[in-house]
Amino acid sequence: MPDLDPFDQGPMLPDPLPGDPFGLFRGWFEDARAQAPTPNPNAMALATVDPDGRPSVRMVLCKGIDPETGSILFYTNYESRKGAAMEATGRAAVVFHWDAMERQVRIEGRVARATPAESDAYFASRAWESRVGAWASRQSRPVASRQDLMDQVGTTILELGLDVGALMRGEPVEIPRPPFWGGYRLTADRVELWVGGTGRVHDRAAWSRQLAPGGPATRWESTRLQP
Ligand SMILES: Cc1cc2nc3c(=O)[nH]c(=O)nc-3n(C[C@H](O)[C@H](O)[C@H](O)COP(=O)(O)O)c2cc1C
Repeated sequence: MPDLDPFDQGPMLPDPLPGDPFGLFRGWFEDARAQAPTPNPNAMALATVDPDGRPSVRMVLCKGIDPETGSILFYTNYESRKGAAMEATGRAAVVFHWDAMERQVRIEGRVARATPAESDAYFASRAWESRVGAWASRQSRPVASRQDLMDQVGTTILELGLDVGALMRGEPVEIPRPPFWGGYRLTADRVELWVGGTGRVHDRAAWSRQLAPGGPATRWESTRLQP
């Protein structure tokens, strides 16, 4: 090796790789959040497969990481296209991309609904507009016009019997969680971390494990991958 290595590119993945990828992943997530003013550093692309085998992908926000179980949490409409796909297959995959840090995280695994208590608590923490919006939108279904959608929002405020004066004054207002809206927990059985490198000689590593339904997961096995 020459003294001056043109491929010397700063911090790559540790060598040897850690036994569990979630510590690194969570560290990267925190780094991304600290990198203001990046908007939505918790945004991730969520891929699902419809029952007929057709893949689809869209952005959602990651609202929790649990290194203990190796899982992440996000919220959506259970009757949306993605909801229907996950209910049918029980599987999903996500990818985070933090361009400024040249880092990518891919996670694949099994999805299950979060507990009602967890979903209730998160729903209650949302702005009233978002809570009304969750009730008003039959996510992924057609609507005739933007005006019709806004009319649905107005009707929802009336149907929920909300005190509009209190809303306008910014006072706390109780709105129950819609039964068709809540969290999904994606428990990983494959995680891949990627760091950009000079000359496209990136650093990649994958961890995989088996998830036994209702039982303990096997230990993570890791391997470095060619970029
Ligand atoms: C940055 C960003 C974050 C989003 N976060 C969420 C989210 O957390 N939950 C959600 O249901 N939709 C979210 N959306 C909207 C989804 O991308 C998508 O349009 C919607 O969920 C309907 O998807 P579906 O019809 O495939 O189910 C977000 C969109 C963007 C651009």
